[in-house]
Amino acid sequence: MSLRLAVIGKTGQLARALLREGEASGHQIIALDRDALDLATKPIDIKTAIAALPAGLDGLIIAAAYTDVDGAESNADLAYAVNSTAPAAIANACAQHDIPLIYISTDYVFDGEADQPYAPDDDTDPLGVYGASKLDGELAVLSSGARALILRTAWVYDGTGNNFLTTMLKKSETQDMVSVVDDQFGRPTYAGDLARAVLKAAEGLSEEADLEAGVYHITNGGEDVSWAGFAKAIFKAKNTNTNVDEIPTSDFPTTAERPAYSVLNTDSFERIFRHPMPDWQAGLRAALDEHDDALEESRDETT
Ligand SMILES: NC(=O)c1ccc[n+]([C@@H]2O[C@H](COP(=O)([O-])OP(=O)(O)OC[C@H]3O[C@@H](n4cnc5c(N)ncnc54)[C@H](OP(=O)(O)O)[C@@H]3O)[C@@H](O)[C@H]2O)c1
Repeated sequence: MSLRLAVIGKTGQLARALLREGEASGHQIIALDRDALDLATKPIDIKTAIAALPAGLDGLIIAAAYTDVDGAESNADLAYAVNSTAPAAIANACAQHDIPLIYISTDYVFDGEADQPYAPDDDTDPLGVYGASKLDGELAVLSSGARALILRTAWVYDGTGNNFLTTMLKKSETQDMVSVVDDQFGRPTYAGDLARAVLKAAEGLSEEADLEAGVYHITNGGEDVSWAGFAKAIFKAKNTNTNVDEIPTSDFPTTAERPAYSVLNTDSFERIFRHPMPDWQAGLRAALDEHDDALEESRDETT
């Protein structure tokens, strides 16, 4: 099945993976970067930009967002503009032009106090501005009248962006010991696996008229792991001698509070879209391959 999809965002981890995976699957992807559509602009201009997209799109995916979790605490207006006001305008335009819509959201809509994986309809209670602005975006999309999916994910990384994996790899080049928090749990999610799942959702939304629109969760599977556990898995896979000093969150203060438990229940997504998620260890291996390939390419370019 070949789809014509618009992706809002081009430079982020998920958008890059959507472009790569989408084209590999034979989909036609039109990606809009910040120059083509600044989500901080007026809703009327956003609606005009959506109306100007080619007719007959099979779907539109909002993969761009204000993702600076700590920055959002002092830039609430901008976070809400990008994560809520803009998605609301996009969703209204999608409803008007009959474009199926996917809004990517976050585990940060939850407070992290659960002791079992969060189901899509569990109560939300964001701890900070970023999560609250994303939740507002979800609600705006759901009430817009657009045929829409909200896909929440968590702990996203790839082999080349600025993220936990690449930070740990960089530190391991110069440090024998890295301090990492051991009391926040989740399931790290490789952007490539997330992109394949989002595309599967786009196929379902476009092709299956009776498909249940609404909220779903997508992360890699496997055992819950703490950031410290994930760091250990990274170092083990890379065969480095760097050790992990397990610290509590209280020893690593951040401006915004993070949920201590970020595990999302992906059952309904996997069942409805018939798309089992690989475990996070497989995602890590794929991300490390991507990292090594990128290093190889940049070496080739400089020789
Ligand atoms: N990363 C995570 O751990 C995580 C976890 C849960 C959910 N999510 C959600 O997953 C989605 C994808 O995240 P990601 O990790 O791929 O994000 P990312 O790598 O941080 O990229 C964010 C993207 O948003 C774009 N953007 C920011 N402000 C913009 C604006 N005013 N106008 C247009 N574009 C703007 C950025 O463009 P520039 O390059 O121009 O700045 C960039 O392309 C987001 O909805 C995020 O909330 C992410």
